[in-house]
Amino acid sequence: MSHQFLAIRPRRMRKDDFSRRLMRENVLTVDDLIYPVFVLEGEGKVEDVKSMPGVQRQSLDVLLNTAAECVKLGIPALALFPVVPQTYKSLDAKEAYNPQGLVPRTVRALKQAFPALGVITDVALDPYTTHGQDGLIDDTGYVLNDETVEVLVKQALCHAEAGADVVAPSDMMDGRIGAIRDALEEHRYIYTRILAYSAKYASAFYGPFRDAVGSAGNLGKGNKYNYQMDPANTDEALKEVALDLEEGADMVMVKPGMPYLDIVRRVKDEFGVPTYAYHVSGEYAMLKAAAQNGWLDEKACVLEAMLGFKRAGADGVLTYYAMDIARWLK
Ligand code: PBG
Repeated sequence: MSHQFLAIRPRRMRKDDFSRRLMRENVLTVDDLIYPVFVLEGEGKVEDVKSMPGVQRQSLDVLLNTAAECVKLGIPALALFPVVPQTYKSLDAKEAYNPQGLVPRTVRALKQAFPALGVITDVALDPYTTHGQDGLIDDTGYVLNDETVEVLVKQALCHAEAGADVVAPSDMMDGRIGAIRDALEEHRYIYTRILAYSAKYASAFYGPFRDAVGSAGNLGKGNKYNYQMDPANTDEALKEVALDLEEGADMVMVKPGMPYLDIVRRVKDEFGVPTYAYHVSGEYAMLKAAAQNGWLDEKACVLEAMLGFKRAGADGVLTYYAMDIARWLK
């Protein structure tokens, strides 16, 4: 107003590539990526996940090749999700802590072949229960908290014993981080990190994942509203993160990703701890479908989405696009 001329022109800094580069605040690198993978029983097996084009369930021998590629690309870590045959599912989910189960076998093989590649395991009972819930249920179908935590502790110990670098409870039971941390310390797994799915919302965006691990049919019309968080809430996310940190979490997660960037920002601002976001199966499916229809430029949109996570304060992103992104960044 007081100026006769325009003193301030934000477009000056945007004019050339050099000044755009100099003022750039956030950078995406391969160090920001965690690659979720689905492991199957058997040998030489590769199955496409219909609702996630480009994502496959792989038997261990095939997964080892994928892991080799991840190492070559510089991806820091894999997050492992098992596809458990129906015959191993039960009401008590005891396959979850079978030391000869699919997850511990896979962890041992991965750590033996690629000691420097981080291996993250999912701690939750949904792959192992006949009803597809993340915990044990009572007669009414209600998911029991403390009884479930006891099983989660056994599962986490079983993964740690197999050599998992990080255990990642994704179940949202109360008190599970503290119980798992106590057990890990007691058994001298003092370097096993806990990545807590702290702010995990009851989201419809998990649909394709449930297809991928084959739990959708078991869950049927069931939902996870009495343990996963209501998408309407934000303060509750801060409370969950605070509890998990007090109980001994090393890293915290917000899930899903893109619709919840406000939560990522609040968590990072409030706690300043290693904070991750899960770009979940439904988010992957949306981008993939649009790209396959020629409606979106896949590479540009995926990289922009990842930058959004960084800008919101995430230290890393779990994404099914991790290998593509790592190649694009080369
Ligand atoms: C289950 C689990 C889910 C995901 C990761 N672990 C689904 C659920 O809570 O029902 C979702 C991941 C994705 O959608 O990509 N403990």
